Amino acid sequence: VRLALSSVYSCLTRDHACIAWTGLSRKTPVLVFFAEAIVSKDGNIRSVGERYNLAFKIVRTESRLVRGILTSHGFHEIHPNSNDFNLMWTGSHLKPYLLRSLQDFQKVNHFPRSYELTRKDRLYKNIQRMQQAHGFKNFHIVPQTYVLPSEYQEFCSSFVKDKGPWIIKPVASSRGRGIYLVSNPNQIPVDENILVSRYINNPLLIDDFKFDVRLYVLVTSYDPVTIYLYEEGLARFATVKYDRGTKNIKNQFMHLTNYSVNKKSSDYVSCDDPEVEDYGNKWSMSAMLRYLKQEGKDTTLLMGQVEDLVIKAVLSAELQIATACQMFVPHRTNCFELYGFDVLIDSNLKPWLLEVNLSPSLACDAPLDLKIKASMISDMFSLVGEVLHSTFLLQRKKLIYRPSLLPDAEF
Ligand SMILES: Nc1ncnc2c1ncn2[C@@H]1O[C@H](COP(=O)(O)OP(=O)(O)O)[C@@H](O)[C@H]1O
Ligand SMILES: [Mg+2]
Repeated sequence: VRLALSSVYSCLTRDHACIAWTGLSRKTPVLVFFAEAIVSKDGNIRSVGERYNLAFKIVRTESRLVRGILTSHGFHEIHPNSNDFNLMWTGSHLKPYLLRSLQDFQKVNHFPRSYELTRKDRLYKNIQRMQQAHGFKNFHIVPQTYVLPSEYQEFCSSFVKDKGPWIIKPVASSRGRGIYLVSNPNQIPVDENILVSRYINNPLLIDDFKFDVRLYVLVTSYDPVTIYLYEEGLARFATVKYDRGTKNIKNQFMHLTNYSVNKKSSDYVSCDDPEVEDYGNKWSMSAMLRYLKQEGKDTTLLMGQVEDLVIKAVLSAELQIATACQMFVPHRTNCFELYGFDVLIDSNLKPWLLEVNLSPSLACDAPLDLKIKASMISDMFSLVGEVLHSTFLLQRKKLIYRPSLLPDAEF
């Protein structure tokens, strides 16, 4: 599999700030989104969406950001029961009958069977399959994991060799809920559906704090697999300094880096200035990388490995999702999906994939959230080519794309 940028975006003529002409004969007008529109409320920008009578609906989720960006580009919101939409933004998977009824100009923000990536147990099983098929070391991107109760015996054999601590997670949950560390198999419930993963106990620290990285990954097609990694992300810090000893393993504020967990701590420091990206418990990823670079770390190598990890994770679910698309999705451009990848970097600068989030949080509690997420969502909609249902793929400055990451021969 090669990640193909199959058609080349070109913006040869622009008759309006928001329209780019694309396609082989440059006759397909598509809407280019601008994050600034959400604050500037520019009537010029809004008029394009209005002229094309663009409609969206939001179902089973509340996203002020998505609504704000779409309305500021002239989209109007329709009732969740109506099917007269160009774009449907939903918080969960779609039922097959709804997918089957999509028309060629309609888009939805999920692929069928995306849970093959976003359920922690399925992700691990899919990566394990790739390890067996393509070599363990080529897919050694996730911590070793056992799915309990079925693999309890295997886990106990591993435990004899590696006393941990290990980390317990519900198979499909989020925000740090139900997660805890154990140093003894007796502490693990035997009859619950849970995962037990090797705990990465040598995380890279900044100022002695553990952190992880939220990356935004857009997939616009599973056939061919087409992935965009947003160039900016968020580094999320724990609120208690890290200590490798086991006496603090119950302290979530030390071991879990979720914002939802740490915001409850009185030590959580937020930053009110969007221009300051390296202060408090949430930094921009680029600020974190600049810091590491100053410390003499090879951040180019690190990000190369992160991209490799993203591609391999998506490939591990490619077959199932592409098959589901063939069965349920009538038109090639109906689906796209934004995933939130949680990546932990260890002290050897190796990135580990912890999980892939369905519907990553678009909440903007801090100015930095808005700055990063508004640009990311705008680029996503531009890439998706929402407006006039062309099959173009647009490459914008804000997104990095390196088709040469995986040599053809590897797969
Ligand atoms: N294997 C691990 N080693 C070290 N830390 C981990 C590991 N797995 C999870 N964590 C920590 O726990 C947090 C939550 O785990 P995650 O898998 O992202 O679940 P959730 O869906 O609840 O966010 C991570 O952000 C990270 O800080
Ligand atoms: Mg997470």
